[in-house]
Amino acid sequence: MNILLTGGAGFIASHTCVELLEAGHQVVVVDNYVNSQPESLRRVEEITGCKIKSYEADVCDKDAMNRIFDENTFDAVIHFAGLKAVGESVSIPLRYYRNNLDSTLTLCEVMAEHGCKRLVFSSSATVYGEPEEVPLREDMFCKGCTNPYGWTKYMIEKILQDLVVADPEWSVVLLRYFNPIGAHESGRIGEDPSGIPNNLMPYITEVAVGKLDHLTVYGDDYDTHDGTGVRDYIHVVDLAKGHVAACNYAAKTTGCEIINLGTGTGYSVLDIVHAFVRVNHVNVPYVVGPRRPGDVDACFADPAKAQKLLGWRAEKTLEDMCRDSWRWQSSNPNGYEK
Ligand code: UFG
Repeated sequence: MNILLTGGAGFIASHTCVELLEAGHQVVVVDNYVNSQPESLRRVEEITGCKIKSYEADVCDKDAMNRIFDENTFDAVIHFAGLKAVGESVSIPLRYYRNNLDSTLTLCEVMAEHGCKRLVFSSSATVYGEPEEVPLREDMFCKGCTNPYGWTKYMIEKILQDLVVADPEWSVVLLRYFNPIGAHESGRIGEDPSGIPNNLMPYITEVAVGKLDHLTVYGDDYDTHDGTGVRDYIHVVDLAKGHVAACNYAAKTTGCEIINLGTGTGYSVLDIVHAFVRVNHVNVPYVVGPRRPGDVDACFADPAKAQKLLGWRAEKTLEDMCRDSWRWQSSNPNGYEK
């Protein structure tokens, strides 16, 4: 298939490019590089030996998107593009709603006008809000989100569900990601956050490489086995393979399916820190601080639906995730910046 990846230079998308190309698909990327670097695509080309056609454009720009669809014929689109920092979304909610909703609406209009009606969307476990019970199943009622970023994902899911009701030719897969970490095992592509990382693993790797002094563990009084927050960490390469499976699924069905992409296993913050230290033989000094607002005790997936519909399940271990995150960080201490 010829597949368009919006936001294709980002962390999850660049790993998905590799897996799609290695599975024999062609990819085209559109990215405005607000939170990514074209260098990631150059490295995908280096890993795969394939050339990637890319466009620098904003998905909200309808003229630009029309041109891209006029110049190419796509079998499917994976919509990764979007703003994604939870804390920032609380400070500048309008920008999050405008960007994430507009880009999706524009994309769907252009797709419909060009007769391309297969879409895989990057949603998030954030739509489950504060879980009443774990593991989380796709059919559980979502009470509401804890931040504007989460609401944008929630609203887009709803928009796409409505679209499929109105036009049954569409095939939409809403992928709810849990916590992607790790990197490609080549060490050539990985997560490259700008500024001080918000998420746990990039924070740990920057402490280990000496860019940050210590990790602050946000609370040790949660209702979990060691008091620190529990999450479902998934290797980004497993997650990328989930997208290949989702494209194949979308190609042979119509309708809309919500699918969790997680491992089904929860690890605490201290489980991750200890595994990282053990696997990589590095120091990660930490202090325990107060809870971070909006954080929940435990969040992990029931991954059974992905297995059933997509024939996919996560295969990599926590050790793989820690080793690959460190290989990327230690061989690229400043990310893609040369
Ligand atoms: N944590 C720390 N110290 C840090 C950073 C994180 O202790 O410096 C803890 C958090 O309190 C939490 C865990 O590490 O217990 C994971 O935190 P992350 O920020 O890495 O991830 P979250 O689970 O908060 O959020 C992630 C994504 C969101 C997504 C959500 C889905 O960042 O985009 O998973 O559940 F919405």
